[in-house]
Amino acid sequence: MPFEDATKPGFEMPTHEMRPDVVGLLPLLYELARRATHVLEIGCGNLNGSSQAFLQGLAEYRSHPLHDPRFVSVDLHDPAGFPLDGSWYAGYPALARCGFWDYVRGDSREPETVRQAQRSLGAKPDVVYIDTEHTYEQMAAELDLWMPLVGTPGTLWLFHDTWMSGEYNTMTDAIKERCPDTHAYADLRVDSNGLGALVPKGNPWWSDLLVGETELVSLPTAEGEPAP
Ligand SMILES: C[S@@+](CC[C@H](N)C(=O)[O-])C[C@H]1O[C@@H](n2cnc3c(N)ncnc32)[C@H](O)[C@@H]1O
Repeated sequence: MPFEDATKPGFEMPTHEMRPDVVGLLPLLYELARRATHVLEIGCGNLNGSSQAFLQGLAEYRSHPLHDPRFVSVDLHDPAGFPLDGSWYAGYPALARCGFWDYVRGDSREPETVRQAQRSLGAKPDVVYIDTEHTYEQMAAELDLWMPLVGTPGTLWLFHDTWMSGEYNTMTDAIKERCPDTHAYADLRVDSNGLGALVPKGNPWWSDLLVGETELVSLPTAEGEPAP
């Protein structure tokens, strides 16, 4: 699926209610979720940003009889204004089809949180999105805990806020230092505070995300313009 399609009409996010700092990333997250069946989001906030893109992208698999997509969100705090029974889906026509979201309240640095997320997911995730505290220490602790337990050679790891004020933050060092041999680091976006990724190498499913192991990938913005 070419990334130009990230602006396709099927993308129906209610952007007026979205977190302004992530709106630019949502079409890309949506596009990636459309290729996945199991997505794990660590740091969901109030479910008014990345979660919406993942829910909508995964929902498109829902009609396929061979797929049983699941989306699990983890956070320290319950999302405000979104009843955990999922009844808020009714306000979003494109999301009302989603019957597979689960929420785990817990600390991303605790093994018990990983165990609960694994139980909810029921399988290893295709995509893991991390957007919690953007410090070297927290990112290192999260990757050291989650990578061996949920990661596979085919897992796509995504990280928000890797590129701030025109440069990498120290969190990005922790990611690059932990890049497995099976993966390569890529900047998928440098706007919206950056979206970094550990992309499985030699995997046709994600190969369009990699143009070189350290190069910036030139992807369109939400408006269809090339990323800076
Ligand atoms: C920037 S917000 C996430 C925004 C969300 N991804 C979105 O697009 O709307 C960061 C979230 O990380 C959560 N968080 C911070 N430290 C955490 C930890 N140790 N374990 C779990 N969640 C954590 C915070 O509670 C907060 O909701």
